[in-house]
Amino acid sequence: MSNLRKKLISKNDSCKSIWFMRQAGRYLPEFREIRKKNKDFIELCLNSELSSQITLQPIKRFDLDSAIIFSDILMTPYALGQEVKFIKDKGPKISEFNIESFLDKNEKGFTQKLNPVYKAIEKTRNNLEKNKSLIAFIGAPWTLLVYMLNMKNSKSVIDIKRLEKEKDKIKIIIKNLINFLCIHIRNQIDAGADVIQIFDSWAGLIPKEKIKDYCYYPNAKIIEFCKKEKIPNICFPKGINEKYEEFNQIVKPDGINIDYQIDPAWAKKKLKNVVIQGGLDPKILLKSDKEMFQEATKYIQTFKASPYIFNLGHGLLPETDPDRVKKLIKFYRDN
Ligand code: CP3
Repeated sequence: MSNLRKKLISKNDSCKSIWFMRQAGRYLPEFREIRKKNKDFIELCLNSELSSQITLQPIKRFDLDSAIIFSDILMTPYALGQEVKFIKDKGPKISEFNIESFLDKNEKGFTQKLNPVYKAIEKTRNNLEKNKSLIAFIGAPWTLLVYMLNMKNSKSVIDIKRLEKEKDKIKIIIKNLINFLCIHIRNQIDAGADVIQIFDSWAGLIPKEKIKDYCYYPNAKIIEFCKKEKIPNICFPKGINEKYEEFNQIVKPDGINIDYQIDPAWAKKKLKNVVIQGGLDPKILLKSDKEMFQEATKYIQTFKASPYIFNLGHGLLPETDPDRVKKLIKFYRDN
């Protein structure tokens, strides 16, 4: 069994584990090489051979414990019929949401559209050492909604009036999304993934009084499903600050990724019965070795005797030098 899976199941194993969010991505020249020849990002995610190759790129380069399948959280809205485009330096752009078309989708069609992702997982599992995990992932309903309904008008502003006005519609969408996300989880596990991470990247934008409805509840439903199916899981409700404590008590995931705004000592004290993952600010990899090691030491020391998974507080930045990643991994292994 992979070391990550074992740790998430037992919750008392303090052996070392390390991987990075966005470990397969633009900071790697070998990724940029493939990307240059494959301009359409969704098509690239649907190319099983290339996605599998990209997934394994960081594993070939570095001493990591897990691979994370090269795909995207927006493959779900894609499979539910929305057109998804990635505009260079601008991020994703999604075609207008249509409720009738959304409610018309069924499991068979959804699974069929994502079949190349499942093939990529199968291929990757066959080429990955047994002791390494293959992590698959989904976007949490709220974060997907932000993209699907185009609710974010700038980096950190959400259209709250709209949230109120379209409350009933949003409730129906979330309910249906939970269903399809559980199908996507099941399919990815059946294809060979052994851990699921749930990214709620925009949880921090939810108005305080709505956090139960839009963050805790949907994540809890999905974790309930994972538990029933015995699927090791990690939640990442990014940006919710001290609400991490309540999130953990209500949702009860096996693992929880802290973001870089969370003080690791606070997390160790407040987040109980859960494996903590990550935290380190990805910007630290752009600073000097001294600063990087000092910051990493904080996490290593704080979680020394606990079941901790070394990772970041968000994904690796595109401007990161791969040699710094190598140095950071070596530092973690040596300390
Ligand atoms: O290595 C890995 O972590 C696995 C692959 C992975 C990608 N996206 C590939 C990708 C994962 C886990 C994701 C998750 C994802 N996608 C999230 C949640 C995590 C987070 O970053 O908060 C979100 C919000 C998305 C949506 C998304 N995909 C955005 C906003 C963008 C454009 C901006 C950006 O961050 O690059 C993407 C594109 C994307 N997904 C790239 C990669 C490697 C860059 C593609 C490129 O332009 O070459």
